Amino acid sequence: MKRWWEPEVGEKEVVAVRDVLESGYLNDGKVTRRFENKIKELVMGHLLWGFGMCVPSGTMALFAALKAVDVGPGDSVIIPDLSYIAAANAVKMCGAEVILVDVKAGDLTLDPEKMVQALTPRTKAVIVVHVSGRRAEMGRILEVAENAGLKGIKVIEDSCEAFPKKLEGDVACYSFSPNKIITTGQGGMVVTDDPKIYQNLTDLKYQGCRGERTGGDDVFEALGTNLKFTDIQAAIGLCQVCKLKRRQRKLRKIYDWYREELGMGIYWFDENDYPLWVVGKGIGEAEIRRIKKAGYECRKFWKPIHEQPMFLGNPEKFPESSKKDRVWLPSHFSLNKSDVKKICKAIKGG
Ligand SMILES: Cc1ncc(COP(=O)(O)O)c(C=O)c1O
Repeated sequence: MKRWWEPEVGEKEVVAVRDVLESGYLNDGKVTRRFENKIKELVMGHLLWGFGMCVPSGTMALFAALKAVDVGPGDSVIIPDLSYIAAANAVKMCGAEVILVDVKAGDLTLDPEKMVQALTPRTKAVIVVHVSGRRAEMGRILEVAENAGLKGIKVIEDSCEAFPKKLEGDVACYSFSPNKIITTGQGGMVVTDDPKIYQNLTDLKYQGCRGERTGGDDVFEALGTNLKFTDIQAAIGLCQVCKLKRRQRKLRKIYDWYREELGMGIYWFDENDYPLWVVGKGIGEAEIRRIKKAGYECRKFWKPIHEQPMFLGNPEKFPESSKKDRVWLPSHFSLNKSDVKKICKAIKGG
């Protein structure tokens, strides 16, 4: 059975990890700084602009971003109802209220007009999710956020599935878990161009220590925790980044093959998107069984967040996210055209 996704690592990663292990420095150090700079350059368009900080996961990136824009008890945060649970959990972990909003039928991303209806004086931020690499309607969302209330609200981008999408909001969060376009095992990164937000992020990451961190008689000026990365992960990440362009081209090709075969049977990507996984629609148990019989695994699409025990909500408010006919089709880098043809034939019942 071919899996729906497979991470790819090679000999280069093995050598890079060995170098770090032999260096005797395994902590969050100069290899992590090099990786952060590389990512920042990619997502800010220039090494000298903005700030980037590696963290242990995409989920911790979201949590840190919320904390850094000062989300806490008494605040509410708008998130799309159709997403990985991480955003909802991160909001709740900050002690704030989760406000779920339905997604758009065409691209499964946050519906800006429904976001307008969900705004209240307590809304502090919105988390925008670029689902499977599909860029949300950022122009309109940024406009709504800017005009919300007296001060506007902060825009946090969950770009975990859309690396290397450029920063457009106040903070962007990325994930390097094994099913992303580049992986460091687990891992994530937060990027911002706001120095105050960055200060808050580094306070959080380094237990509030702003001076030299010796692990000894340091001064801890703010409240924080340990969100460090490791040079072992960064060494893998630097090798993975070298393969990014090739992988982007391959994922776009896989998407094009599916489109040729299934047309409107998949969710479309446009030119400005960052195709990661192909989402099939109109697919039920019978189709999934046939795909399996053809030798391929697919992954069921998320349950909407309002159906999760911690965030139960009224299904009538979420007609789009409640649909159950979506599936992630096999999308990994090593698929070839004949694989895609076999999968599509199975979907069509041939
Ligand atoms: C949209 C989205 N947000 C957040 C996350 C969380 O990232 P991580 O698994 O690195 O914590 C993921 C990861 O799967 C994701 O797909």
